[in-house]
Amino acid sequence: MIDRMMAMQTEHGHTFWVMERRGERHGDGQFLGMCGFCPPRAPLAEYEIGWRLARAAWGQGFGTESARAVLDWAWAHRTMPTIVAITTRENAKSRALMERIGMAYAPHEDFDHPALLETDRLRPHVLYRIARPKS
Ligand SMILES: CC(C)(COP(=O)(O)OP(=O)(O)OC[C@H]1O[C@@H](n2cnc3c(N)ncnc32)[C@H](O)[C@@H]1OP(=O)(O)O)[C@@H](O)C(=O)NCCC(=O)NCCS
Repeated sequence: MIDRMMAMQTEHGHTFWVMERRGERHGDGQFLGMCGFCPPRAPLAEYEIGWRLARAAWGQGFGTESARAVLDWAWAHRTMPTIVAITTRENAKSRALMERIGMAYAPHEDFDHPALLETDRLRPHVLYRIARPKS
């Protein structure tokens, strides 16, 4: 996976970046997870933001802080009009994060993820979207 992420960084100048802890109290560089965005890839036709945090890093706002920084970077350095995020329908924590950073659920765009088996309960996915802020 790291090889794929490094290749994306080389090809596109962005990827799902590593998150490290910083700040006055916690400036120890501890690995927290990853957060970033990728170019459109099937089945999506838009840029996609995403995240995955180590279990010990949940519940402290690190995902929200990172996702906001990723959005800021994307709007500043790229020209796409919108960014989407997807997750399995049941992933309430990820959906809550999407809402915290201002993404809106697109209920008509629910889909079954093609990479998952029809019997997999994680197959039903939801899509959220955010538009480039007006400057
Ligand atoms: C999805 C995932 C990143 C969400 O993690 P999270 O810790 O809930 O999200 P955040 O880092 O934004 O933290 C928000 C939580 O911290 C709390 N919090 C504490 N301090 C905070 C702060 N300064 N700012 C924001 N939230 C803060 C919030 O109240 C919230 O807790 P709550 O859910 O109990 O209300 C995490 O569950 C995860 O990595 N899951 C596994 C992988 C995964 O599902 N990835 C997504 C696939 S699409």
